[in-house]
Amino acid sequence: MSFLALGKKVDPEDYIICKYFIDSDLTLEDAAGKLAEEESTGTWTEVPTEKKIHEFLGAKVIDIDKQEKIATVAFPNEEFSNFDEIGGIPAILSVIAGNLFGLEAIRNVRLIDVFFPKEIVRGFKGPKFGIQGIRNYSGYKNQPFVGGTVKPKIGLKPQDYGDFVYEIGMAGLTSGKDDETLISQKFCPLEERVIKIAEKLDQVKEETGRTVLYSVNVTTRADKILEVADLALENGANMLMVDVIVTGFSAVRALAEDPGVKVPIHCHRAMHAAFTRNSKHGIHMKVISKLVRLAGGDLLHIGTFGIGKMHAPPIENIECQKALTEDMHGLKDVLPIASGGLHPGSVEALINIAGIDIQIQAGGGVAGHPWGLSAGAKALRQAVDATLAGISLPEYAKEHKELAAALEYWGYVEPGQSNIYK
Ligand code: 3PG
Ligand code: 3PG
Ligand code: MG
Repeated sequence: MSFLALGKKVDPEDYIICKYFIDSDLTLEDAAGKLAEEESTGTWTEVPTEKKIHEFLGAKVIDIDKQEKIATVAFPNEEFSNFDEIGGIPAILSVIAGNLFGLEAIRNVRLIDVFFPKEIVRGFKGPKFGIQGIRNYSGYKNQPFVGGTVKPKIGLKPQDYGDFVYEIGMAGLTSGKDDETLISQKFCPLEERVIKIAEKLDQVKEETGRTVLYSVNVTTRADKILEVADLALENGANMLMVDVIVTGFSAVRALAEDPGVKVPIHCHRAMHAAFTRNSKHGIHMKVISKLVRLAGGDLLHIGTFGIGKMHAPPIENIECQKALTEDMHGLKDVLPIASGGLHPGSVEALINIAGIDIQIQAGGGVAGHPWGLSAGAKALRQAVDATLAGISLPEYAKEHKELAAALEYWGYVEPGQSNIYK
């Protein structure tokens, strides 16, 4: 079977098209051919039964960019038919991101992008809410969502979560979340935690008229996720969180497609950097973003555009943001979350790069304020208000003491100061 079809025009509606960065001692054509072979016949030598399969079923290397070391490979939809009934995202990933990563002949290979045809996308419902849907659900218009993450990430009691939500809500934040490692440990069982949180969400609503969203982490084993989600929802959770990489795209999809789950699904990406961080090997976060969108995630952590504590190349973050929001055969968009090491002083620079259709999330940058949690949440709110009003943070801080204290303590990231073009 021949895998090289360079220059051959393929109808993008008939294939899943993938771009791979390839680093190998072989020529790019040969290395890409081996990759396509592994994901087609699946073996290294000719087997007689190969003749029984139709030529069109094999993957095709349709373009080679020698300069950038990028090969474009087209996988026919037929390889995935019935995928929706049975296989879903695992069926797609086992091909486009399967054995190829381990081939001896290829030193490094990175799946840098994927384009899904309408026929494949049609098999998925995608996000239930979309950015506008989350705005309608919560009532926040023309502003970024701005949230706090409870810290320390483990050890606090259910009542501490209730208190946290109340304080950040009263201080004007739109959202709160469990940290990604908190599920239902003995020191903080999920049911008790959600009861305390829901009570306080109601209290904030009564006192301010505002809805505060809170993402309850329902990350768990596959066979329990709907049960744990039900437990959270029955007790008043208005948003669910899943660690999508460790739990799996299918778990997110199971939640998103469950008629009983009528709340947005927040996807944390803990573990992603094991395969997204290396610029030569692994999978680009943009691909993960598209998969989360197919699976039905409503919010996804994508990084802090180079100004937080986690490795976050701004260009890659921008590409993820596009993957979540640009047209994808009619699927709703996904709200990108910037989180990890943010504080009030980073807000202006962040909104400058990312715009307002994002969620700004801060843990230490709220709870670690020198005057305490409530002041930290107020300072974060003030930073957002200043930026929306077109006033620089140092200027606004002259009249807002919580922000002033935050800037003094953590510093001010000037817009443009971030390493966006690094
Ligand atoms: C955290 O858990 O500290 C961060 O939010 C994780 O970083 P990420 O948002 O870049 O995935
Ligand atoms: C998250 O899960 O969003 C993070 O833990 C945020 O934490 P940080 O703002 O303290 O880095
Ligand atoms: Mg965290």
